[in-house]
Amino acid sequence: MIKILQKLLKTVVGNILDMNNLPQTYSIEIITNIAKQTSTIGELIGKYAKAGDIISLKGEMGTGKTTLTQGIGIALQVQSIVNSPTYILLAKHTKSIIPLYHADLFRLTDYENSIELDLTEESKDGILVIEWPEIAENILPTDRLEIELYYTKQEMERRIILKSNNSKHKKLFKNIHNEFLGN
Ligand SMILES: Nc1ncnc2c1ncn2[C@@H]1O[C@H](COP(=O)(O)OP(=O)(O)OP(=O)(O)O)[C@@H](O)[C@H]1O
Ligand SMILES: [Mg+2]
Repeated sequence: MIKILQKLLKTVVGNILDMNNLPQTYSIEIITNIAKQTSTIGELIGKYAKAGDIISLKGEMGTGKTTLTQGIGIALQVQSIVNSPTYILLAKHTKSIIPLYHADLFRLTDYENSIELDLTEESKDGILVIEWPEIAENILPTDRLEIELYYTKQEMERRIILKSNNSKHKKLFKNIHNEFLGN
C-alpha cells in the first residue's frame, strides 16, 4: 500500500508539516493509473476526514468523482452501495462508522438552485461529498476540501489535486502526506 502511494504522489504544495505557519494553501497532486488507485485515494481521505467535513469533487464526466467517493465509503465502512445518485440530489449512507452524504448536483435546475439547498444542515453529523459543486457554487460553503480530477493523455490516467486554504484541514493534509511518505 505504502509503495503504491509513494509512486502516485506527484507534488506537494504548502509546507504541510510546519504546524506554525498560517495561513496556507495546502495542495497534494496525485497521478492514478487505474480506477482502483483513485478509489484508494478516496479511502485515504475517508480515513482522516471528520464529521462535518465537506468535500467537493470537480471534474469532467467520467474522471472518477464517484469512484473516489466509493473509496471514501470503504473507509467509512458504508453498508449501502455508493453510486451516481443521478435522480436524487443527496444519497444518505447512514449504516457506517459515520454517515456519508453523497450529493450530485449535475441535474440541479435553476429553480432548485434558487431555493435554499440545505445540504450542510442535513449532513452535519457526517461527511458531505458533492459532485458537480460548480452548479451551485454561490450557495455552497467555502470551507471545504476541494478535489479536482483531470483526464490526461493516457486513457486510464487521472491527475487528482487535493487542496484547501482552510487551516482546519491542516491535520488531514499532514496525515495524508505522511501516508505517502510511509510514516
Ligand atoms: N485512473 C482512474 N481513476 C478513476 N476512474 C478511472 C481511471 N481509469 C479509468 N477509470 C474509469 O473511469 C470511469 C469513472 O467513472 P465515475 O463514475 O467515477 O466518474 P464521475 O466523475 O463520477 O462521472 P460523472 O460526472 O458522470 O458522475 C469508470 O468507468 C472507471 O473505471
Ligand atoms: Mg459521478
